[in-house]
Amino acid sequence: MYNEKVMEYFVNPRNVGVIPNADGIGEAGSPACGDEMKVYLKIEGDVIVDVKFQTYGCASAIASSSMATEMVKGKTIKEALALTNKDVVEALGGLPGPKIHCSVLAEQTIKRALLDYANRHNIHIEELDGIE
Ligand code: FES
Ligand code: FES
Repeated sequence: MYNEKVMEYFVNPRNVGVIPNADGIGEAGSPACGDEMKVYLKIEGDVIVDVKFQTYGCASAIASSSMATEMVKGKTIKEALALTNKDVVEALGGLPGPKIHCSVLAEQTIKRALLDYANRHNIHIEELDGIE
């Protein structure tokens, strides 16, 4: 059901763990399946210098969070905000249709972590309007 790349990111997930004193933390859960994700960001200036995640969920959720965290690491906040679940799915070489929501969870969790960062620093980031 999963392609080799997805399996690789599931078996050897990148960026698993917790960042103590993270600058932004985001959580999201999927009502469709009950899976949960948490993302921790370390931000210096406007660059995401480190990112870690914890995912309680399926192979696709783990592969998606692994890929998504890898894609935003070293990026500016603006660049990270441009990441969509579609980009994550593409980078993984595709996900089975019923598993697309796992990648949506990854995008949402990263955006919530960025929102948390923005709120803590009283920064308004236009691209985050509508995210809660
Ligand atoms: Fe249970 Fe995704 S449905 S792990
Ligand atoms: Fe729900 Fe993967 S996150 S099935």
